[in-house]
Amino acid sequence: MDVLVTGGTGQLGRALVPVLQAAGHQVRQMSRRGTGPGGVRGDLATGRDLAEAAGGAELVVHAASDPRGDPWQVDVAGTRRLVQALDRARLQHLVYVSIVGVDRVPYGYYRAKFAAEQVLLASGLPVTLARITQFHTFVDEMLATARRGPVLPVPMSWQAAPVDVAEAADFLAEVAGRPATGDVVEFGGPEVLTAADLARAWAAAREPGVHVVATPLPGRLSAAFREGGVLPGPRAERGRRTYAEHLRA
Ligand SMILES: NC(=O)c1ccc[n+]([C@@H]2O[C@H](COP(=O)([O-])OP(=O)(O)OC[C@H]3O[C@@H](n4cnc5c(N)ncnc54)[C@H](OP(=O)(O)O)[C@@H]3O)[C@@H](O)[C@H]2O)c1
Repeated sequence: MDVLVTGGTGQLGRALVPVLQAAGHQVRQMSRRGTGPGGVRGDLATGRDLAEAAGGAELVVHAASDPRGDPWQVDVAGTRRLVQALDRARLQHLVYVSIVGVDRVPYGYYRAKFAAEQVLLASGLPVTLARITQFHTFVDEMLATARRGPVLPVPMSWQAAPVDVAEAADFLAEVAGRPATGDVVEFGGPEVLTAADLARAWAAAREPGVHVVATPLPGRLSAAFREGGVLPGPRAERGRRTYAEHLRA
């Protein structure tokens, strides 16, 4: 099929494009600069070049996002622009890459992702909302950023089920090959770990000598993470690669 991957230059997009190509699809990977093989330009924040990028797509995996910038402009309004740019007569399936817990964790970026899901559900397009847990590489980045010299402070009792990005890409390629559900499917990692578990494993592998300190964090957001707000539900599909295996690689 003629496939468009938005966010093709991102962590997930870079893992997903080769999987879709290996399955025999003609893949265009969209980003603002259109770099890389099969790269096309398209800016969700402005709509620039979007019609050319999206026009002929039969299958879309929509993975572009701007968590550190303006997700309401890129993820929400940008998803609306993408919907308008697509050819309804050609499109067979749009898979939206979302995050487990966007419907229940009171965090601004998650609210934007949830709003983008609603845009797609209201669009009348054949969509599937694929909610995935945190990537192992994302956990690494968070922990590296949180470190303060020899101390690594982490919120006490936060729970997560991080997942390997390559397994998430395989899952998405498989979902893309199924008919649209018009609903949510979930994918998470094999084990539930606390932030302190993750931090100790990361420190041992990457920064020996760093001391992990778990600190109670007040507030609704922290309570949601403690109470399993980002853990996949019982019907979720699960990856096999553990965070420890990721760290050993
Ligand atoms: N990271 C995680 O742990 C995690 C977990 C679950 C789900 N997700 C979801 O998975 C998706 C991919 O995440 P990721 O970590 O791979 O993201 P990422 O590495 O930050 O990549 C973001 C992608 O979005 C593109 N983008 C940003 N602004 C854009 C704009 N205005 N117009 C067009 N494209 C734009 C970027 O392209 P350029 O900057 O090159 O233009 C890049 O390709 C996101 O929807 C995210 O919410 C992530």
